[in-house]
Amino acid sequence: TTGRKPLVAGNWKMNFDHLEATYFVQKLAWTLRDARFDYRDCEVALFPSFTSIRSVQVLVEADDLKIRYGAQNVSVTNQGAFTGDISADMLSRLGCSYVIVGHSERRKYHPEDDANIVDQVRAVLAADMTPILCVGESFEERRQGIELDFAVGQVRDVTRDLNEAEAARLIVAYEPVWAIGTGMVATAEAAQDAAQAIREGLAAQFGAKVSDGVRILYGGSVTSRNAGELIAMSDVDGFLVGGASLDVDEMARICRLV
Ligand code: G3P
Repeated sequence: TTGRKPLVAGNWKMNFDHLEATYFVQKLAWTLRDARFDYRDCEVALFPSFTSIRSVQVLVEADDLKIRYGAQNVSVTNQGAFTGDISADMLSRLGCSYVIVGHSERRKYHPEDDANIVDQVRAVLAADMTPILCVGESFEERRQGIELDFAVGQVRDVTRDLNEAEAARLIVAYEPVWAIGTGMVATAEAAQDAAQAIREGLAAQFGAKVSDGVRILYGGSVTSRNAGELIAMSDVDGFLVGGASLDVDEMARICRLV
């Protein structure tokens, strides 16, 4: 993680109503405070459902918490007749720092292709937030031994039209689909190989100055039992945590390991 500030991001997916969300945020803040956790060493971010973001904002502002938050998805358009959509401006006005873009569950259950994901990245950047771009191979690509090319290609397909300044503002999350919610975590070496390949791909596109600064997270069955060895890898700059981020003690333990 040389020179890059690690990030532990908790993707709650479709869990927790606004009361559970605010209870969780308060409890995590207290737990980390009691453990003398230093947010200057590691950023912590939570990704509630849209319906809970306002409640989290009110709490974070009232208590001046250092925990950041963001959204799990965003519309590609800014306003208008798009029933059910939420714009990047709306999220940024709620104090969101990040938006997860291209999560494999969105790619699978919604018609989100690369063109759509590119537009989401642009919308997030235009609203002064940070996109967390998710990539990662399924079991089939891994079986064929093409997982590194696949993940690097996914990043390239979304970033090819960005300029250097835009690319420098990205976070990439490498989440092998076979590891998501399965308890089958990638080995630290495999996570490192993928993160390194993604960084090299970014270096080829945008130069080493950009690629050295981009944070690359690992996601997929991260728990406090495996986070220590994963974060020891030089190109792994933090985590996108799903299931384990629903348990406040477990989330706090992962933050403290980073
Ligand atoms: O975005 C995080 C995620 O997809 C990983 O989920 O439950 O395997 O930690 P999980």
